[in-house]
Amino acid sequence: MAGEDEKDKGKTPAAPKGPAKLDRRDVLMGLSTVPALGLFGYAWNSQAQYQRSRAAAATAPPVAPADLQVINVALLGAGAQGQVLTEAMLRIPGLRFRAVCDIWTEYNQRRVVNTLGRFKHEVNGYEDYREMLDKEKEIDAVIIATPDFWHAQHTVDCLKAGKHVYCEKEMSNTLEGARSMVAAARETGKLLQIGHQRRSNPRYIHCYEKLLREAKLLGRIVTVNGQWNRAVAPDLGAPDRYAIPDARLKQYGFKDMPQFRNWRWYKGLGGGPIVDLGSHQIDIYNWFLGANPSHVMASGGLLYHDPKTHEWYDTVMVIYDYDTPLGPAKAYYQTQTTNGSQGYYETFMGDQGTLLISESEVNYAGQLYRDPNAPAWDEWVQKGYVSAPKEQEAKAKSDSGAVADVRESVAPDQHTVPVVLRDPYHQPHLQNFFDAVRGKARLNCPAEIGYESAVSVLKVNQAIEAKSRLSFTPEDFKI
Ligand SMILES: NC(=O)c1ccc[n+]([C@@H]2O[C@H](COP(=O)([O-])OP(=O)(O)OC[C@H]3O[C@@H](n4cnc5c(N)ncnc54)[C@H](O)[C@@H]3O)[C@@H](O)[C@H]2O)c1
Repeated sequence: MAGEDEKDKGKTPAAPKGPAKLDRRDVLMGLSTVPALGLFGYAWNSQAQYQRSRAAAATAPPVAPADLQVINVALLGAGAQGQVLTEAMLRIPGLRFRAVCDIWTEYNQRRVVNTLGRFKHEVNGYEDYREMLDKEKEIDAVIIATPDFWHAQHTVDCLKAGKHVYCEKEMSNTLEGARSMVAAARETGKLLQIGHQRRSNPRYIHCYEKLLREAKLLGRIVTVNGQWNRAVAPDLGAPDRYAIPDARLKQYGFKDMPQFRNWRWYKGLGGGPIVDLGSHQIDIYNWFLGANPSHVMASGGLLYHDPKTHEWYDTVMVIYDYDTPLGPAKAYYQTQTTNGSQGYYETFMGDQGTLLISESEVNYAGQLYRDPNAPAWDEWVQKGYVSAPKEQEAKAKSDSGAVADVRESVAPDQHTVPVVLRDPYHQPHLQNFFDAVRGKARLNCPAEIGYESAVSVLKVNQAIEAKSRLSFTPEDFKI
């Protein structure tokens, strides 16, 4: 799956980026397939189709400048996200894949080993990462995309073996695990990047550095609102011929194949959609507000999925309090399992303007609204920080005969953020990691930032269980 981000991990993990990835034709195809294959068959079929199209889309390997230091890379966890990261890495010059480790030797491991072979990376496949670390001494960096509950052990052992690590979010499903990762990075002096890829997205960086910090276009941010609405979809399955033997599943912490495929929904393995999806966006709340939350209250439940087969909440609504350097702020976030209308985005509302931003290049990529009472933005338009405002549609509205209430504010000017990401979403974050390995950049999401994000997000599930408002202390975010 292209990442849950890719938006729809939980259901059509193989779906490419974008909010709920099923369009009308997909739904019709899916429904017509269900009677023949069962839900299990449909979910598998979608993933296989997606993966074929992703592999076919991979571009020819880039030519590296002769003096570029080659970095030897291993992939640990070759599932949906491991494949998305591999595709992005194949576009980055100066990388040499050496090994792929995945316990699903029958399917994911073989698939990625074969794909890399087609791109002239002769790699060895491993089931056990410790054997890989023992045998592949020349590896410089390990990219970890295993389920969340494995992140801490994999990361700590790779760092201690002298490797730099890029580890997917959520950094860990426990704070103890996340703390051990920070400690290992400090102890070994090796780099640890956490996969909150928006931190390296040029549009997010532009908004933070130019629009919020330099031009201060929003004024004082008072409220934040964000969401990831996702369409319902069947659980993931796998054909019997690719089933992992029970003994191996248990050895690696999985009860059976359905749990192995749908680990996100299980306590002790993942954190449900709020962790899977929300972690990306709540990380942006902290970044753009320049603060960590002080309190959290949340409500959640299994409103759609069967509690007999799903443990984590499919629907969560959260309110955070922040004490930002400019004053108090409140931030709402929701992740829903219903349909994907309105997709995923973050909105920051200040007393002078609003920023609506998303990782999605198609929906809400970056829109800005200037309050009519705010100072003019001409300077920022001229500098190219924001586009010129769109002509207002007030006249069209009045032509429609609708009557505006006297209390309605004048519609703010609408601008756009003129920065587009033309590469795969994860490529800039991986590039930042490899640049840092070469000593040419600082990590955009080092372990300490990943930890602050994990503290903020993992507490949501606690708040739901406690049915009360929980506080954070500044010490909670320090290690
Ligand atoms: N940054 C993003 O946008 C993004 C998107 C999707 C997923 N992710 C993260 O990537 C990670 C993987 O998610 P996914 O969707 O690819 O899951 P997945 O289930 O598709 O893939 C996980 C892979 O890890 C393998 N695995 C499990 N335990 C292992 C072990 N002990 N040793 C070696 N291999 C093991 C499995 O066989 C499987 O191939 C998760 O942490 C997830 O949160 C991040």
